[in-house]
Amino acid sequence: MIEKIVKQSDHFLPNSKMIIFGGGFSGQHIAAVSRRLGAQVFCSRRRIEKPGADFVFDSEREDVPPQKILDGVTHLVSCIPPLENGIDPVLQILGDKLKEMPLKWAGYLSTTGVYGNRNGGWVREKDIPKPKQARSIRRLACEEAWLASGMPVQILRLPGIYGPGRSTLEAIKKKNSKIVDKPGQVFSRIHIDDIAGAIMHLISLISKDIHPKIINLADDLPASNLEVMEYAAKLLGQNLPPVEKFDLAAKKMSPMALSFWQENRKVSNQVLCNDLGYSLIHPDYKSGLKDCFLSQ
Ligand SMILES: NC(=O)c1ccc[n+]([C@@H]2O[C@H](COP(=O)([O-])OP(=O)(O)OC[C@H]3O[C@@H](n4cnc5c(N)ncnc54)[C@H](OP(=O)(O)O)[C@@H]3O)[C@@H](O)[C@H]2O)c1
Repeated sequence: MIEKIVKQSDHFLPNSKMIIFGGGFSGQHIAAVSRRLGAQVFCSRRRIEKPGADFVFDSEREDVPPQKILDGVTHLVSCIPPLENGIDPVLQILGDKLKEMPLKWAGYLSTTGVYGNRNGGWVREKDIPKPKQARSIRRLACEEAWLASGMPVQILRLPGIYGPGRSTLEAIKKKNSKIVDKPGQVFSRIHIDDIAGAIMHLISLISKDIHPKIINLADDLPASNLEVMEYAAKLLGQNLPPVEKFDLAAKKMSPMALSFWQENRKVSNQVLCNDLGYSLIHPDYKSGLKDCFLSQ
């Protein structure tokens, strides 16, 4: 809920201008909140007809945003995943132009996949990344490129992103959905309100010269797929879909889905919430799913 984020966040300074590369699910929410807090915001999508597109940026076509959009940008967010070759599309196409901007803050949305499998253990920012999946190896390469760019970048490592319109509620509503049960397996999550809220908080800390390079954005309660599905079904007043043991379900999973189940870790938010003082809007999946349910 944008109101809660706006209430707990500082306004941008006058003449703040934000550019968001990849105005998808998270990007649009960050844009909406930033506008409410006084920033001028420009969001890219790959086609201008898509909702919320202020300009086109598509690595396949190498479209470069008009100079008037790049001029005077003070804040930048990149939500675009790595290319298949492991290169970051924004840095590859616009790297030199970005360095000319009067940037005060830049955020790169990454994934906690860079930590690799930890057999259910906690992962913290100080842990050395051990990515095993090809996409996480590419992601780590992009993190490193952003950190080496010379821009005032913070790497934001995200677990499963959810929010209104994209949550377990949609999975329950689907016909023929099944619940995969893998005892001991948990997933961490973050609601889009807390992605936007945490970004506003991190931006406000620049004036205090607090700018850690890498921050996990996760809620307080890693939980199993079964627990979350049970709660979502209860909210919807629907019967729980059939539960299927992982070993059987795995045989029918896409390689991408399977790769998520092959890694098990809990994402610590101690740096964000304790050291940096951010208050989560949705500390657990129950709070977050209730919000998704009420926003339907
Ligand atoms: N979804 C998750 O659970 C999750 C978890 C951890 C981390 N992440 C990462 O966090 C970031 C934000 O996630 P999200 O779920 O908000 O992403 P999303 O909704 O999929 O949005 C991704 C954005 O990137 C743009 N994009 C993709 N490939 C592009 C390319 N080659 N050139 C130009 N633009 C391109 C898309 O353009 P269009 O708008 O035209 O489609 C879209 O605006 C992504 O990097 C994602 O990989 C996601």
